[in-house]
Amino acid sequence: MEKIVIHGGSPLVGTIGISGMKNAALPIIMGCVLVKDECIIENLPEIHDVTVSLQILEAMGVKIRMIDRNTVAIDATHAQCGSSPLGLVNTIRASYYLMGAELGRFGRSRVGYPGGCDFGVRPIDQHLKGFRALGATADIVGGYVDASTEDGLKGSHIFFDLVSVGATINVMLAACMAEGFTEIENAAKEPHVVDLANFLNACGADIKGAGTDTIRINGVPSLHGCTYAIIPDMIEAGTYMIAAAATHGDLTITDVIPKHLDCVSAKLREMGVTVEEGDDWVRVSLDRELKPTNVKTMPYPGYPTDMQPQISILMCLAKGTSTLRESVFDNRFRYIDELLRMGANVKVDGKTAIFQGGGLTAARVRAVDLRAGAAMVIAGLAVAGRTEIDNIHLIERGYDHLIEKLQAVGAMIAKMDVKESVTILQAE
Ligand code: UD1
Repeated sequence: MEKIVIHGGSPLVGTIGISGMKNAALPIIMGCVLVKDECIIENLPEIHDVTVSLQILEAMGVKIRMIDRNTVAIDATHAQCGSSPLGLVNTIRASYYLMGAELGRFGRSRVGYPGGCDFGVRPIDQHLKGFRALGATADIVGGYVDASTEDGLKGSHIFFDLVSVGATINVMLAACMAEGFTEIENAAKEPHVVDLANFLNACGADIKGAGTDTIRINGVPSLHGCTYAIIPDMIEAGTYMIAAAATHGDLTITDVIPKHLDCVSAKLREMGVTVEEGDDWVRVSLDRELKPTNVKTMPYPGYPTDMQPQISILMCLAKGTSTLRESVFDNRFRYIDELLRMGANVKVDGKTAIFQGGGLTAARVRAVDLRAGAAMVIAGLAVAGRTEIDNIHLIERGYDHLIEKLQAVGAMIAKMDVKESVTILQAE
């Protein structure tokens, strides 16, 4: 068991390069199952969820060849439908993209119910509604999602009841080789939805409108291999932007698409942070007191729920009252208990957290989920003294070389074996 130990209180200064986007890489990896050919995927982040996704495909008979640390060749010519291992599938959320990919390729699918971060109830009814609209049966039986069609998927019109990234992506995967025309309305507009559409189009699909709330898909008979580079991770970039502000630092964050960061940049500016932008970089610095603000999470282009825990740290550090409203998930405030351990002045009322500011103190805390774990890292970097974070495997699900990237901009942060850290603690 390992933990992260931080001696915080110093500004982060320097340059951090951003890796490929986790939430684009995962559906693209699963999307390779649609293709009876080799796809070369570049700018792959080195994170646990990518490793697990590749292991799942390998167990299904897909040929995986690492070309370098960030490039993989995936050949799903001999993929076996329904053979994904439950023990891996139910450890990550993105395994549910296998449902759409298998259904699109084989006309049937059997995949274990997905896992992922615990934000309360996370139903998949919209995914199943989409598959049924395409003419498949789709049911959850004994911990598996079973879907099948007798005579192939047929293009259809789908109006989602709510905006769901996962359901939009799953229906795109299933529909790109369905017979005829599919229209998805009330679709998610996230950059990773667009990235998957671009990948599928590079493989010969005919998908238009990704990035708007109506996606139109003309089914094609087959897809071919391609070489495709994943877009930069806006959540990783946003996390470092907030870390720069929280430590009163000065970070240049490179290899980003600044447009994807507009919602975070706007909030930081409201809080008194200086944000400058270039073609593929943002520079974030703070040399004054943080001002309070109000944030409500929304589907893209609104403020992302995956950046909600991180900005809570700035609200703890700001002078005055801030409110943070979660409107995407049922229960994404489990990490507030950890902030209370750090002395935060915060109350939760339903889906709103109210922060009185006034600062935090170093403490021993744990990551309750991936982004909440990143928030604990930011808190540890911001406050003087020693912060220890347990449960760090959750952070490693989604941040590529977090420790090394932060060390390179002056952070005193290390990963330690739990036993090792106890020894150091006793010696101190
Ligand atoms: C994805 C991301 C996650 C991000 C989220 C919102 C991946 C692997 N995960 O999760 O990091 O926080 O988008 O940007 O990319 N819902 C239903 N029925 C459904 C599907 C969703 O009620 O069939 C609800 C969810 O419970 C939630 C809301 O819709 O309240 C949005 O969820 P969704 O956009 O689907 O999130 P995920 O795809 O699970």
